[in-house]
Amino acid sequence: MKRVKWLGVGVFFFSSIILNVFVANVSADIQGSVHDFSNDNWNRSREVCVVCHTPHRAEVNAQVPLWNHQTTLATFSLYQSPTLNATVSQPDGASKACLSCHDGTVALDAFGGAINNIGQGQGEHIIGSDLIGIDLANDHPISFVYDAALATADRELATPQSASTVDGVVPLFASKVQCSTCHDVHNTANQTKLLVKSNAGSALCLTCHVK
Ligand code: HEC
Ligand code: HEC
Ligand code: HEC
Ligand code: HEC
Repeated sequence: MKRVKWLGVGVFFFSSIILNVFVANVSADIQGSVHDFSNDNWNRSREVCVVCHTPHRAEVNAQVPLWNHQTTLATFSLYQSPTLNATVSQPDGASKACLSCHDGTVALDAFGGAINNIGQGQGEHIIGSDLIGIDLANDHPISFVYDAALATADRELATPQSASTVDGVVPLFASKVQCSTCHDVHNTANQTKLLVKSNAGSALCLTCHVK
């Protein structure tokens, strides 16, 4: 009798673990996230991926796989400070793709060959706190090499594990810090603000900054 009861408790805990894992997996992706534009009126396709990717006729010069969105042509003001050791360049890599919506110069619906404000483009631009703009002087630096040499120069930085990650979780792109170092555009980590890991207690910052 006793054994049956414990078995019941065991089955209950076991199935709730499975349920939790299942529920976490279901929500930890782009669907239903802020980057799911399938319900936005400006996205007539009602699809999720097509706003950013296409299986055919992609923009081959883009630095994002099968890119389908018009790319920004803006020149950005860059972060600078007297204590900065890194050499920060104009945004490159996937950061340029992010800024193609987040700098506010290109319409959200400028995808699939539609050009900003022309043709099927209805010209809706990003607004509010999601607008990063073309002035990056007041934003965490991006598009710079973060390697062992920089860690040595700064003296208060972790040494990255490899050219593709700091700690096995936070990614680098050919040794560079990009927007996608801190954010997962597809929301696979299921954190607030699309972060790659929780920033509770500044855990994300402390991955790199030894403070
Ligand atoms: C808001 C723009 C956006 C949307 C929507 C989007 N992606 Fe992406 N995707 C990107 C960017 C930017 C990258 C470049 C890599 C990075 O920054 O992580 C990327 C990279 C990828 C890659 C290659 C790298 C990897 O993670 O494996 C694949 C595959 C991919 N996306 C598939 C998809 C699929 C499938 C969908 C729809 C379910 C989708 N994406 C929706 C922006 C987007
Ligand atoms: C196709 C346009 C587009 C692209 C490309 C795009 N975004 Fe966004 N992003 C948006 C829009 C629109 C919102 C606001 C959605 C809302 O508030 O409903 C947003 C919201 C966000 C947010 C706020 C999340 C939150 O929970 O408040 C972050 C962070 C973000 N994007 C990061 C990125 C990064 C990093 C990239 C590149 C890897 C990127 N985005 C590429 C359109 C885009
Ligand atoms: C070093 C890490 C880091 C980098 C690099 C970074 N972000 Fe963020 N970003 C954050 C954190 C952390 C937050 C959440 C801040 C908060 O909740 O107050 C955030 C918030 C945001 C938001 C939401 C703003 C809001 O008020 O809701 C957007 C949009 C965004 N980032 C886009 C970008 C884009 C685009 C890039 C590249 C140009 C970028 N981020 C680069 C760490 C970063
Ligand atoms: C992926 C690693 C990484 C993450 C995550 C990260 N940073 Fe950084 N951050 C750097 C590197 C590398 C530099 C360049 C340092 C240098 O050149 O001296 C930098 C620069 C800075 C600077 C400017 C330093 C200066 O001397 O001007 C500040 C401030 C800063 N980060 C704060 C933060 C905060 C706050 C967070 C969390 C929201 C954060 N960082 C997340 C790697 C990171």
